[in-house]
Amino acid sequence: MNPVEIIIKKRSGETLSKDEISFFIKSYVDGTIPDYQMSALAMAIFFKGLNDEETVNLTFEMLNSGETIDLSEIENFKVDKHSTGGVGDKTSMILAPLVASFGLPVPMMSGRGLGHTGGTLDKLEAITGFRVNLSVDEFKKTLKEVGFAMIGQTEKICPADKKLYSLRDVTGTVSSIPLICASIMGKKIAEGIDGLVLDVKTGSGAFIPQKSETLKLAKGLVSIGELAGKKTIALLTEMSQPLGKNVGNWLEIRECVEILRDGEGAKDLVELTLALSGTMLFVAGKSKTIKEGIELCRKKLKTNEPFELFRKSVKFQGGNLALIDNPESYEKSKFEFDFVAEESGFVESFNNYEIGMVAVSLGAGRTKTTDKIEPKAGMIFQKKTGDKVQKGETIARVFTDLEKSIEPAKSRLAKSVKISKSYSQKNELIRNLIDKNGVHEWNDFC
Ligand code: URA
Repeated sequence: MNPVEIIIKKRSGETLSKDEISFFIKSYVDGTIPDYQMSALAMAIFFKGLNDEETVNLTFEMLNSGETIDLSEIENFKVDKHSTGGVGDKTSMILAPLVASFGLPVPMMSGRGLGHTGGTLDKLEAITGFRVNLSVDEFKKTLKEVGFAMIGQTEKICPADKKLYSLRDVTGTVSSIPLICASIMGKKIAEGIDGLVLDVKTGSGAFIPQKSETLKLAKGLVSIGELAGKKTIALLTEMSQPLGKNVGNWLEIRECVEILRDGEGAKDLVELTLALSGTMLFVAGKSKTIKEGIELCRKKLKTNEPFELFRKSVKFQGGNLALIDNPESYEKSKFEFDFVAEESGFVESFNNYEIGMVAVSLGAGRTKTTDKIEPKAGMIFQKKTGDKVQKGETIARVFTDLEKSIEPAKSRLAKSVKISKSYSQKNELIRNLIDKNGVHEWNDFC
C-alpha cells in the first residue's frame, strides 16, 4: 500500500478500509511511515472525519499496536476515569485514591498535556522523582499493593497513541472527534479495566466546545467502550473556566493535596470529583445508585484514608513524599505578577482556551514535542464566574520563570475575562449523563 494514496483518499473525503487504517498505524509505529505523513493523515481526518466503522477500526488498531494488560489476577471490579481534557482539570489525583479506598482497583493510563490543556502525567512528574513509566509488572504490583496506579502509554502498551498523541499536540489536530475517541478508548481498553467513567468537557476550554458536538463525542466514546465489553458512562461537564483554583502542573498537585488532606476545597472541583467518583462506585456495583455513590465518596473524602493512599502511591512510584507533606517547600518561580480586573462588576465569563494557552506560554505546556515543561509555572485564581470584582483587584496570581512571557501573558489574560455590571450567565457544572441507553439529564441522577 502507498501512504500518499491513503492520505489523498482521506483528503478527498473517501472511506478508508480496515486494512488501510491497519497498514498506516502499523507502519507509523514501526517507523516506516514518518511523522510528516502521519501528520498529513491526521489533518485529513481532522477536516474530513471518520465514519463510525472507521473510528472503531482506528481505535482497535491503536489498542492492538501493543500489548493489552491482563488484570484478571487482581480481584474486584477494575474501574477508571478519563477526561477529554481541560484547564485546571485535576480530578484524577483526588478520585483515584478516593475510589481505591473502597477496595476498587483503579488502573489509570493517562496522557501528557495536549494543546491548551494539562495532562495528568506532567502533573505527577511535578512531584520530583515520581515515575510514570512503569513496566507492566510494576504497574500490576502497584495496583495490588496501593490500590491504584498511574502510568503513561509505553513502548509496549498503546505505542501508537504514545507517538500520535504528541504529534497531534503540535500539529493542530487534537480537536477531532474520531482521533479523540481512538486515542482515549485505545489506551483505556488496553489497561485491563472492567468499567469506565468519562468526563467529556464542553465549553471554551474543551477541545470540542459546542455542546451538540460534545454530545457526539460522548456517544462515540460510550459506544466504543460498550462494544469492547466495558461498562461505560460519560458525564458531560462544563469547562468554560478553570476547574478549581490552580492551573499548572505543580500548583494543581498542590491543590489536590490540600483537598485530600483537608477533605474540602474549591466547590466546583470537589463537586465534580464526587460526581465522577460516585459514578465510578455505581459502575463498579459498590452503590445501588449514583446518588448513593456520591454520598459514600463525600463521607470518605472527610477521612484521611484517601490522602494516606495518595501518599502511599507517591512513595511507591518514587516521588518525593516531603513535597506532599510540606507543599510550601516547593521551589518558587522566579517571577510572579497579578492578573487584575480592569473594571468593577461581576466576572461574567472566561475564555478558558486563552487561559490554557497563557499557561502553556508561561512554561506549563509544550509548543514543540521536545519542549521541557516548567512544573512551577501557572496561575492561582482568586475569582470565578459570578464573583464580584473591583477595578484593580486580583483575578489570578501568575507564576513563571520566563521573563519574556510576562507582558504577552498580561495582555492575553486581560482579554480572556468578561466583566459586566450584573451576572447573568449560569452554567451547570454537570449537564448530562450518557450511557448505552442514550442521553439523560444529570439532575435525574443526583
Ligand atoms: N485525552 C486523550 O487521551 N486523548 C485525546 O485525544 C484527548 C484527550
